[in-house]
Amino acid sequence: MAATAAAVVVAAALGGGLLLLARRLWPAAAAAGKRSATAAAAAALCRMEGKTVIITGANSGLGRAAAAELLRRRARVIMACRDPARAEEAARELRAEMGLSSRERGGGGGGRGELVVRELDLASLCSVRRFCQQVLQEESRLDVLINNAGIFQCPYMKTEDGFEMQFGVNHLGHFLLTNLLLGLLKSSAPSRIVVVSSKLYKYGEINFDDLNSELNYNKSFAYSRSKLANILFTRELARRLENTGVTVNVLHPGIVRTNLGRHIHIPLLAKPLFNLVSWAFFKTPLEGAQTSIYLASSPEVEGVSGKYFGNCKEEQLLPNAMDDLVARKLWDISEVMVGLLK
Ligand SMILES: NC(=O)c1ccc[n+]([C@@H]2O[C@H](COP(=O)([O-])OP(=O)(O)OC[C@H]3O[C@@H](n4cnc5c(N)ncnc54)[C@H](OP(=O)(O)O)[C@@H]3O)[C@@H](O)[C@H]2O)c1
Ligand SMILES: *[C@@H]1O[C@H](CO)[C@@H](O)[C@H](O)[C@H]1NC(C)=O
Repeated sequence: MAATAAAVVVAAALGGGLLLLARRLWPAAAAAGKRSATAAAAAALCRMEGKTVIITGANSGLGRAAAAELLRRRARVIMACRDPARAEEAARELRAEMGLSSRERGGGGGGRGELVVRELDLASLCSVRRFCQQVLQEESRLDVLINNAGIFQCPYMKTEDGFEMQFGVNHLGHFLLTNLLLGLLKSSAPSRIVVVSSKLYKYGEINFDDLNSELNYNKSFAYSRSKLANILFTRELARRLENTGVTVNVLHPGIVRTNLGRHIHIPLLAKPLFNLVSWAFFKTPLEGAQTSIYLASSPEVEGVSGKYFGNCKEEQLLPNAMDDLVARKLWDISEVMVGLLK
């Protein structure tokens, strides 16, 4: 009995493994040539020369991949990161990668991209204010702001200002950041704001009676709530930015192999299986970052605002993300929470 069961498990595991291998290798190989040709053509259309882009959380995962690609398109990229050492290391690596590819391209006139590291801890309103002050002093323009940084299903923690960590970092920190940079974005119009949310917004709800999860903390719910807040924020901001030349759109990246799962504990024995599954089925950071890059640079979305995207296409939202009254109330409360309204 036990032997047959074991044999079935082994056979299933082997078969499954082969299937995963096939899924990863063949479609990728077949598409690779086509993809690099179309990507090159698209990139040529989306040159970012002379444009300044801020990316939050640019030292890791999706933010790092977007930084690399926008740098390749010759933007001035400001990596807004909480840990200066980790950020400098990522910047060094990116510069090295770009140095290589720019030599391969063989010159070609015009400026090169620039990479700048600035400290931004979204879990501290003080740090957000300091960051914005520095940007307003140093930068003459801001063409794109990508609100990408995020924290996922951490244990119960509070930000420096006493907000539940996921709501505080994913929503409130970015809320203050965006508001403090709006003037510069407006004076640089046409300009764009790109917000990275998640499909998990669908399990969220803005429970105004306990935004800091003091009555009850559910880490999955808190993540979903913060990602729902990202969408409601985008829609309300788009309404407020009508006719300013500043657009704001929100996206979900799909499931991507990054450091986001750092707070999720996977039992040691399950790790190889998890790694196999993620290698086979999750997107790479560069694949996952495509919609951020598209919204930041493509002429196709010039003037488009207040929309939700996945895989570089507009998608429909569920009713919980389309409630304009909740969006407005969230905006008002957020203003008070971050001290924009006294
Ligand atoms: N990966 C996915 O499958 C997936 C799916 C849906 C949505 N998303 C969204 O994609 C975005 C990027 O995540 P990722 O997958 O690329 O994860 P990641 O590799 O963990 O990157 C997250 C980035 O956010 C930064 N960050 C975290 N807390 C911060 C704070 N207090 N202040 C400033 N920066 C902070 C991290 O900095 P440190 O490196 O210093 O920690 C890191 O640079 C997130 O908004 C996430 O919700 C990801
Ligand atoms: C936590 O929230 C998620 C939805 O976000 C829900 O599916 C789950 O049942 C909740 N867990 C508990 C213990 O309430």
